[in-house]
Amino acid sequence: MNGPFAPTAPPHGGADSAPPAAIDFSTNANALGPSPMALTALATADPSRYPDPAYTDVRERLAHLHRRDRADVVVGAGACELIHRAVRTTGGPLLLLEPTFGEYRYAAAVAGVTVRSARDLDAFGALLGVAKLAVLCVPSSPGGHVSGADVLRRLAAQAKTSGCRLLLDLAYHPLSQQRPPPPADSWQLWAPNKAHGVTGVRAGYVLAAPDDAARLRAAPSWVLSAHGVAFLACITDPAARRWVRTSRATLWRWRDELAAELRACEVPVETGRANYLLARVGDATATTRQLRLAGIGVRDATSFGRPDALRLSAQPPESQAVLRTALRAIRA
Ligand SMILES: Cc1ncc(COP(=O)(O)O)c(C=O)c1O
Repeated sequence: MNGPFAPTAPPHGGADSAPPAAIDFSTNANALGPSPMALTALATADPSRYPDPAYTDVRERLAHLHRRDRADVVVGAGACELIHRAVRTTGGPLLLLEPTFGEYRYAAAVAGVTVRSARDLDAFGALLGVAKLAVLCVPSSPGGHVSGADVLRRLAAQAKTSGCRLLLDLAYHPLSQQRPPPPADSWQLWAPNKAHGVTGVRAGYVLAAPDDAARLRAAPSWVLSAHGVAFLACITDPAARRWVRTSRATLWRWRDELAAELRACEVPVETGRANYLLARVGDATATTRQLRLAGIGVRDATSFGRPDALRLSAQPPESQAVLRTALRAIRA
C-alpha cells in the first residue's frame, strides 16, 4: 500500500447499502436470469465440505469447454479477485484503454503499480512496449464497443513481442452482439455470473499459457466456496450454455427499445454491441440520486470518466416504462 492513505474501492453497479432498488438498470447481469440451471446447481451444492483446493474437476471441465488444458485454467472468487491477482503478479506498468472498469485502476493503486492510459486503440498499441500487463474489455465498459478479431490478433501479437501480457476482460462477451474469438496467446478473464444472471455468486476464471497460469494459481488469493465451484461447473453444461444463447436476442431487443425510449425523452444515447448503453443525461450523479429516490437503480458513469452519462442495462419493457416516466418527471 502507498503511504498512509488506502486507495478507495471504485463504485460498482448493483446493490448499495439502501434497500434494494425495485427496478435495477445498474448491473449488466442478464436481465432474464437467474438461469434455472445455475439455481439448480447452487441448490444442490454440498456446503458441508471444503472444495478441492486444486479445483481439479472444475478446471478440467472449463478446459474442455474452451478446448484447452487444465494447466491453463485459474479459478478465482470472482473476476475482481482475479483482476487484483493479475495486477499483483505481473507488476507495472499497467496499461488501460480508458474509460474502463474502475477495478483495474484500484488494483494498481493497492499493489503500488503505475498506470499508463490510452484514449484510443492506436495509442494502446503504441504503449504495449512499456507495459507488463495491458487490459482490454471486450465489449468495453461502459461504452459497449467491441474490437474486431483482427485487431485483437494484432494486439496480442504485438504484446507478445514486447513481453507484455494482454488481458482480455470478457465479462460481457457472452451477451454481446459481436463476439470475436479471443486470440490464444492472450489472457482471457471470464465472469460467467453476469451471463447467467447470478452476480451474487463470486466465481470467475482466467485462461492463460501454462507458465502464466501456474504463477497466477500460486499467488495469494481468496478461495472459492462450494457454491462458486458448483456454479462454474454448471456453466460447462450444454443446457446452461443454451439458456445464455437463447437469452441474447431478447436482451439486444430490450437495449434497442430502451435507446428509443430515451431518445423519445430527448436523452442522447450511445449504443455499442453489448447488453447495455450509455444515456447522456447531463448531470449523471444528480440524476442517479433522483432516480434512486424513485426506486430505480442506475450506474452513474462518473467513475468511468463520464460525468454526463448513465450506464443502463437492457431491462424488460415494464421497467423501461417506469424509467421513462421517472426521467420525464425529473427533466420537467
Ligand atoms: C468489465 C468487468 N469486469 C469484471 C467485473 C467483475 O466481475 P465479478 O463480479 O466477477 O467480480 C465486472 C463487474 O462489474 C465488470 O464490469
